[in-house]
Amino acid sequence: MDRIDTPTATALVTTSRTVERLVQGQATSDGAGVKLVRVLTQDLQRRLDPFLMLDAFGTENPGDYIGGFPDHPHRGFETVTYMLQGRMRHRDSAGNEGLLVPGSVQWMTAGRGVIHSEMPEQQEGAMEGFQLWLNLPGKTKMQPPGYRDIPSGEIPEWHAEGVTARVIAGATHGVAGAVQREDTEPLYLDLHLAPGARFEQPLPATHNAFAYVYRGSLSVAGAEVRRGRMAILANPRPDFRIGGTGGAGADGVVLEAGAEGARAVLIAGRPLREPIAQYGPFVMNTQQEIIQAVEDFRAGRLA
Ligand code: FE2
Repeated sequence: MDRIDTPTATALVTTSRTVERLVQGQATSDGAGVKLVRVLTQDLQRRLDPFLMLDAFGTENPGDYIGGFPDHPHRGFETVTYMLQGRMRHRDSAGNEGLLVPGSVQWMTAGRGVIHSEMPEQQEGAMEGFQLWLNLPGKTKMQPPGYRDIPSGEIPEWHAEGVTARVIAGATHGVAGAVQREDTEPLYLDLHLAPGARFEQPLPATHNAFAYVYRGSLSVAGAEVRRGRMAILANPRPDFRIGGTGGAGADGVVLEAGAEGARAVLIAGRPLREPIAQYGPFVMNTQQEIIQAVEDFRAGRLA
């Protein structure tokens, strides 16, 4: 029987997920006036469960970042900071300290609570990177805080012609990433694609997934995703409506770089399907737990 080649027919992924929605982030500021783009906003937390937030920062103007993020608390989730350019110093109430440099990752588990600062360690030059918030299940929200600096050289990479995949979490093409998490099975890849290069990633059907393009452009199942856009990838589901947009049968995603090539993060994870109660830097399951978090912070019990 003749094989029919379609743009989405590949060895690992038979049918690519489609783009359900393109999102342009919201320009905002946080900390002491750091300008950033909030790509994954609060209204998308349920859709992109277990991810709570993605901020992209990128500027060559020190006035946009010099204030940094002075002491502030977190409880109930994990923060993952990935630096592309620039240097940031982290200090926290658990006694951890680390310097984020280009290509490195800081993975902080806030757990029951931590107070930390993230301050630029430079007066000039470019600062660029991402901060992703990954939720914790209710059963581990109150675990002791944890912290890990992952130097650039310790982030595993997978290479193919025209493709570099830096594997921050999860696994791709048999390469296990720097971090694994049992409950949410996060996949976090930083992809560098040469012009026209193609990258495929199998994805479990129930996992929520998105790609954010920060250089060049990508196409996903025929949809163009330009720089500065997040593509929410449709989950496959049994879809008996003809022409349904559920991406029925998709077993992964195929990304193809445009003429300028592309750099993008591809992020996916298993949803927790638990209630999400957020008040600023606290993310719990119930309002009562949020009130408790605020009381604990005010009473100095997070330090
Ligand atoms: Fe923080």
